[in-house]
Amino acid sequence: MSRIRNTEFSAKTTLFTGSGSINFLAEELKKDDYNNLLIITDKGIKNSGILEKVESILKSIDLETLVYDDVKPNPSVSATNEAYEKYKHKNIKGILAVGGGSVMDAAKAVAVLLTNGGSIADYFGVDQYGNEPIPLFAVPTTVGTGSEAGRASVITEDTSNLKTKKLVIGKSLFPKAAFLDGELLIGMPGSLVASTGMDALTHAIESYLSRKGSVVTDALNIHAVKVIGESILQASANTDNEEAMNNMIQASTATGIGMSNGGLGLVHAISHAIGAQYDAPHGIVNAILLPYVLEFNWIANPHKFADIAQALRVNTWGMPIEKAAKAAVERVKELTTEIGIPEKLSEIGIDKSNIDVLTDIAFNDDLYMMANPRKATKDDIYKILEKAIG
Ligand SMILES: [Fe+2]
Repeated sequence: MSRIRNTEFSAKTTLFTGSGSINFLAEELKKDDYNNLLIITDKGIKNSGILEKVESILKSIDLETLVYDDVKPNPSVSATNEAYEKYKHKNIKGILAVGGGSVMDAAKAVAVLLTNGGSIADYFGVDQYGNEPIPLFAVPTTVGTGSEAGRASVITEDTSNLKTKKLVIGKSLFPKAAFLDGELLIGMPGSLVASTGMDALTHAIESYLSRKGSVVTDALNIHAVKVIGESILQASANTDNEEAMNNMIQASTATGIGMSNGGLGLVHAISHAIGAQYDAPHGIVNAILLPYVLEFNWIANPHKFADIAQALRVNTWGMPIEKAAKAAVERVKELTTEIGIPEKLSEIGIDKSNIDVLTDIAFNDDLYMMANPRKATKDDIYKILEKAIG
């Protein structure tokens, strides 16, 4: 596998890590005038008690806040624009995202719109907006998105005939600070740790294999593979396990920085196509696709696959490199089963009726396709989907 000749790396989010790190939120927000702070979240977080905890911290510094708690999974252009319209005349000076990937995506999009106006669809691509977005702070409440330390917002284009996921990427779209508090996550559903944690594992593996990667992104991604491999089963089995939850959230953010710079690959090209068409849960779709894509990809870089096997504690001592590479694919398959993820996409309601459309969308997803270690034709993608749907 040849890497792209040169790349750029930036990480601009201050990270507060460990149990109780949410308490640093007040200090951070006192550093500037963030009045009329807009908290962006969803109903699940509101009902879980996490929002209440965050609000009580904000009360201690007398900050005026507004709450938008209506983010839905896979946020769309129209939903994002609607949220912006609601707050565009409210003199918002800061945004606090409290939630998982969808909340982070929506918050970043609203941050761009509040200073640039128009529709979020105007800013699809890299650095397409002129004005700095509203300063953003992030409290992740799942263990998979990585978006709390990244510069991309994923939005579903629902205003054209063919629904697709698009990215708004910007150098100034990094949150200013993120609070990775494992204690805050205690008690979340184990199934959510499983699905979002598998999204993080997918980020780490895809980005480690990416052609856009560097030694710097490799360091973040391969260690994230190791930590997630060691913690995901324990964390999903018992979300009161504070150490495992802290490991998961920190590894998820580490690979968030890794993938934000190193890119992703074919799993995400296909899963974004599926997510836009079926509104399916991102982490579960990735987890189902991952072994099928790895089976296709391994011949492009067996050495890196052998590294992944070792990071997942497979004993590869004395194995020929090809065997060690295939052992990585097998271990990922086992992990997916152990954690309770379905084996086939048909088990979550995705059938073969749309397979041509999904193949086309994934194939045209240049950003992910160019980073994938093995060049994939349309026919390759079709065959992967055929197997994965089952
Ligand atoms: Fe993802």
